[in-house]
Amino acid sequence: SIAYLNGEYLPLEEARISPLDRGFLFGDGIYEVIPYYNGKSVGLMPHINRMINGLAAIEIKNNHTADEWKTLLDDLIAKNSDQGENLGVYVHVSRGTDTKRYHAYPEGVEPTIFCFTFAIKDPEPVDRTRVHQYSMISTEDLRWQRCHIKSTALLGNVIHFQEGYSTGNDEALLYNAKGELTEGSSCNAFIVKDGVIITPIQDNQILPGITRRIIIDSIKADGSLKIEERTVTMDEVRNADELWITSSSKEIAPVTKLDGKPVGNGEVGEIWEKAFQIYTASKFD
Ligand code: PDD
Repeated sequence: SIAYLNGEYLPLEEARISPLDRGFLFGDGIYEVIPYYNGKSVGLMPHINRMINGLAAIEIKNNHTADEWKTLLDDLIAKNSDQGENLGVYVHVSRGTDTKRYHAYPEGVEPTIFCFTFAIKDPEPVDRTRVHQYSMISTEDLRWQRCHIKSTALLGNVIHFQEGYSTGNDEALLYNAKGELTEGSSCNAFIVKDGVIITPIQDNQILPGITRRIIIDSIKADGSLKIEERTVTMDEVRNADELWITSSSKEIAPVTKLDGKPVGNGEVGEIWEKAFQIYTASKFD
């Protein structure tokens, strides 16, 4: 496949960066993952704007306007059209390559920009009897207190994901020291109780997910379902009728098992199907 590295398009296997790159040594960078189905993007501008905000938050130089980023990513997708109908694009901007390993932000360094594409699956069917069902464990969120920044330093997330994976689950659901739901190790989380969809508020404890945003906005615009952003306790999660996890790669994924116990009646819920229908109808840019 064709990658993008610092202004150049080249075969992915030829892309090289210095071991003194701050992204490699410190995880000092910002990233995005954006889905394109048959060449059509989902949430492209919100992803780009989140990245620009993240770069500003940690003072990494951003050399491109939002429109330039859009052109760059659309071009990369076009160059990889032989790689599959559905592609995800990974965008990575690290602080750049220093001449030494030193914690302080170096001056006068150009950021390293690296992008590549990878095949992603077709969307799941909007059908509660056929959709893939997820199982999760729950565990205390031991990441950092700046989870709103989409940092390439993902070790905290990776350790939690592995806790789920190594016990035969798909993901790990995280809660803070007060027993309140935060998110999944690589996704946001929603519950449904008595027909109301509820998701934790957007603060420093969670990533402001683009999928989460599209879901909230499309459900509100549709008007047929109730949705709330508020604090959610783990007691509420354990008594919920439905549990969903959301991300650019999973879209809205129903979770039917948590810590080995069924969620609700153990089947994919009706609200999931309605919400996924609404989301699917309005997701494309
Ligand atoms: N994960 N929360 C975390 C911790 C995430 O890593 C992600 C995305 C999300 C969902 O965000 P969005 O809807 O914008 O994809 C929430 C990406 C896909 C990843 O790391 O691969």
